[in-house]
Amino acid sequence: MKSIFKVLIGLVVVVVAASENDVSGPSGRATSCILTGNSLDQLNEIKSSCKNIVVQNLRVPAGKSLDLTGISDTSITFKGNISFGYAEWKGPLVLISGSNVNVTGENGHVFDGQGARWWDNLGSNGGVQKPRLFKLRYLYQGVVNHLNFLNSPRHCLAIHNCTNITVNGVVMNNKDGDTQGGHNTDAVNVKGSENVFIKNTTVYNQDDCLAVRSGKNIHFEQAFCSGGHGMSIGSVGNRTNNVVEDVHITDSVVVDSDNGIRIKTVYNATGLVSGVTYNNITMRNISKFGILMRGDYLNQPRPTGNPSNGIPIRNVTVTNVRGTVQTKGTNVYILLGQGVASM
Ligand SMILES: *[C@@H]1O[C@H](CO)[C@@H](O)[C@H](O)[C@H]1NC(C)=O
Ligand SMILES: *[C@@H]1O[C@H](CO)[C@@H](O)[C@H](O)[C@H]1NC(C)=O
Ligand SMILES: *[C@@H]1O[C@H](CO)[C@@H](O)[C@H](O)[C@H]1NC(C)=O
Ligand SMILES: *[C@@H]1O[C@H](CO)[C@@H](O)[C@H](O)[C@H]1NC(C)=O
Ligand SMILES: *[C@@H]1O[C@H](CO)[C@@H](O)[C@H](O)[C@H]1NC(C)=O
Ligand SMILES: *[C@@H]1O[C@H](CO)[C@@H](O)[C@H](O)[C@H]1NC(C)=O
Ligand SMILES: *[C@@H]1O[C@H](CO)[C@@H](O)[C@H](O)[C@H]1NC(C)=O
Ligand SMILES: *[C@@H]1O[C@H](CO)[C@@H](O)[C@H](O)[C@H]1NC(C)=O
Ligand SMILES: *[C@@H]1O[C@H](CO)[C@@H](O)[C@H](O)[C@H]1NC(C)=O
Ligand SMILES: *[C@@H]1O[C@H](CO)[C@@H](O)[C@H](O)[C@H]1NC(C)=O
Repeated sequence: MKSIFKVLIGLVVVVVAASENDVSGPSGRATSCILTGNSLDQLNEIKSSCKNIVVQNLRVPAGKSLDLTGISDTSITFKGNISFGYAEWKGPLVLISGSNVNVTGENGHVFDGQGARWWDNLGSNGGVQKPRLFKLRYLYQGVVNHLNFLNSPRHCLAIHNCTNITVNGVVMNNKDGDTQGGHNTDAVNVKGSENVFIKNTTVYNQDDCLAVRSGKNIHFEQAFCSGGHGMSIGSVGNRTNNVVEDVHITDSVVVDSDNGIRIKTVYNATGLVSGVTYNNITMRNISKFGILMRGDYLNQPRPTGNPSNGIPIRNVTVTNVRGTVQTKGTNVYILLGQGVASM
């Protein structure tokens, strides 16, 4: 094992040290409702009449989303086993949007994606179409606590177009994917979102632990990432929004992964990456790159090895990064076009 310890590099990177209505409110309107069983027939009624929605031991029918959109001032509690019928589609299996919505997973609950039904080692690059598991989209003022995900078919938790949200204590266990063909099982994927605070995430998967594609003021703290591709900004480029600003990734551990931390921008694309800090990151047994920044990314074919310069990278600070990279790996690899990186 080689050791990365207080490496100092160049300009940009400085590594220094059912529904039963069980409670009625004063108005006679139901205030708490339970969705359970194997149908979503009661869902619309529950959404329109309940402020405390409990989803308990639910089996969501194949090809349908558990659609918790368009709600406000509501709390949602998940209990027991939430599972899903098999269909080859893009998902998401669960979708939540609204304003002032709090989501809590009770002890012992699980979203069991049973991903092995889809896994074929091809992820989203081919084979059968695999659904995303859980998406927060257009969620404003939300607090999400303690969600347990098991065996996501592909991407697990998407945070798209959300503002002012906190996500605490997510656990994603996709260990089975290591031996049963899991691929592109990204844990937390952020796009087009602002003021997002993600804390205490635990991930065992086969792709990015965090991937920030666009957004502003994103915080990712106290994560433990194992088995995947590390904590990433990117890929950035080739989407409608390609601007990443103010991302803070701190106090985290990455083990047994391809990369520790990385920034990857798409070859020939335009956009901006500005104000990124990585601080207090420990890595162990990284197989490819401890710190990777590349401007030549192409999903297919492989990276060109020839970075382009349409996506400036400004004001990136990497401090207190330490740990080990396998002997065949590289501690720090930076491949950026001339003039792309600046303070
Ligand atoms: C959600 O939680 C926040 C902070 O804990 C609280 O201020 C807010 O009132 C809660 N909203 C709902 C709908 O329970
Ligand atoms: C969840 O429920 C599904 C469907 O009944 C079952 O196949 C699966 O094994 C359960 N998962 C857990 C973790 O109990
Ligand atoms: C986000 O929070 C800020 C500060 O509290 C507030 O000014 C802004 O309106 C909020 N944005 C949304 C979309 O809720
Ligand atoms: C972190 O998340 C785990 C899993 O949800 C939880 O058991 C633990 O209490 C959380 N820790 C803190 C400090 O919130
Ligand atoms: C949602 O976010 C995308 C970027 O991911 C952005 O292009 C789009 O305009 C946003 N949509 C809305 C309605 O804000
Ligand atoms: C660094 O992060 C670790 C968790 O990985 C944490 O235990 C430790 O307190 C952090 N150190 C500082 C100085 O915040
Ligand atoms: C190192 O990580 C690889 C995955 O990249 C894993 O297969 C291997 O078991 C790990 N080695 C140790 C000593 O943990
Ligand atoms: C990159 O852009 C150049 C100039 O527009 C074009 O000739 C080339 O085909 C592009 N390459 C790829 C891989 O898109
Ligand atoms: C650099 O980024 C940090 C946040 O990461 C921000 O607070 C600071 O204002 C930025 N500096 C410049 C010159 O943009
Ligand atoms: C760019 O986007 C197109 C359409 O979504 C996709 O087919 C292509 O693979 C993307 N290229 C890269 C490098 O991501």
